[in-house]
Amino acid sequence: MRLTGKTAIVTGGGSGFGEGIAKTYAREGANVVVNDLNGAAAERVASEIALAGGKAIAVAGDVTRGEDWTRLREAALEDFGSVQIVVNNAGTTHRNKPVLEVTEAEFDRVYAVNVKSLYWSVQEFVPYFRAQGGGVFVNIASTAGVRPRPGLVWYNGSKGAVIIASKSLAAELGPDRIRVNCVNPVIGETGLLSEFMGVEDTPENRKRFLAGIPLGRFSTPQDIANACLYLASDEAEFITGVCLEVDGGRCV
Ligand SMILES: NC(=O)c1ccc[n+]([C@@H]2O[C@H](COP(=O)([O-])OP(=O)(O)OC[C@H]3O[C@@H](n4cnc5c(N)ncnc54)[C@H](O)[C@@H]3O)[C@@H](O)[C@H]2O)c1
Repeated sequence: MRLTGKTAIVTGGGSGFGEGIAKTYAREGANVVVNDLNGAAAERVASEIALAGGKAIAVAGDVTRGEDWTRLREAALEDFGSVQIVVNNAGTTHRNKPVLEVTEAEFDRVYAVNVKSLYWSVQEFVPYFRAQGGGVFVNIASTAGVRPRPGLVWYNGSKGAVIIASKSLAAELGPDRIRVNCVNPVIGETGLLSEFMGVEDTPENRKRFLAGIPLGRFSTPQDIANACLYLASDEAEFITGVCLEVDGGRCV
C-alpha cells in the first residue's frame, strides 16, 4: 500500500477521473475525502469505498467558493486529523464550438471551476501545509493545455493556466516542502466526452479523435489514477513542477 497513513481530498470525486482517483487512493490505504458539487454522487463513491473496506467521507461543495474549501478542510481534519494530499480534479468545459460562439457566462464558469478553484485550494491549504511541514497538490490539467484542439479555445486556455500556475507554485513552495504537479489526460470516456467532441458520440466521430492518439484508445479513470497515485506517493518525493502526460502519445 503506497498511501498508508495519508489523507487525500479529491475534488470532483463523484464521477469520471475523480472517482477513479478516490477509489485508487483508498485501495492504497489513504483516507479519502470525496468532494463534488453533486452531493449524491460524492456519497455514492464514498459508500462504495467503505463497502470495499476503505475509509472515505463525502463532502458536497463548490470548488469555486472559498467558504466551501474551508468546510472541506474542517471536515477532513475532524474525521481524519490531518491532510497530506489535495487533488484538484473538478473541472468543466464549454461545448466544442467556434470561439465567437462561447458566451461570457460559459467563459466565466470554465475559468471559475478550472482555475479559480486552484486559487482557493492554495489559500486554504498552503498555510496548513506550511504549519504541518509539507504537503502535495496534484492538479488535473489536460493535453488541451499543451496540444490544443480547435473548438475548445477557452477550455484549452484554462488548462494552460493550470499548468503554468502549478509550475509557479512548485517554484515558490518548494522551500516549504510543498510539492505541486499536474497530470495531463488525453480525452477520456467520462461525463465530459460529448462536450469535448461537440458532436454526437458515434463510432465515426470517435474515430476522428482517436486518430491523433498513437496508442489508439481514449484514457480511462484508472490510467489517470495510476499517475496521480505515483505523484502523491513518497516515491515522488523529489518530483515537483512536472506535468505528466497520460495521453497514449498524443503530445509527441
Ligand atoms: N474527460 C476528458 O476527456 C478529460 C481530458 C483531459 C482533462 N480532463 C479533466 O479531468 C477532470 C475530471 O473530469 P472528468 O472528465 O472526469 O469529467 P466528469 O464530468 O466525469 O467529472 C467532473 C466532476 O466534477 C464535478 N464538478 C464540476 N464542477 C464542480 C464544482 N464547481 N465543484 C465541485 N465539483 C464539481 C462534477 O459534478 C463531476 O462529478 C477535469 O478537470 C477535466 O477538465 C478530462
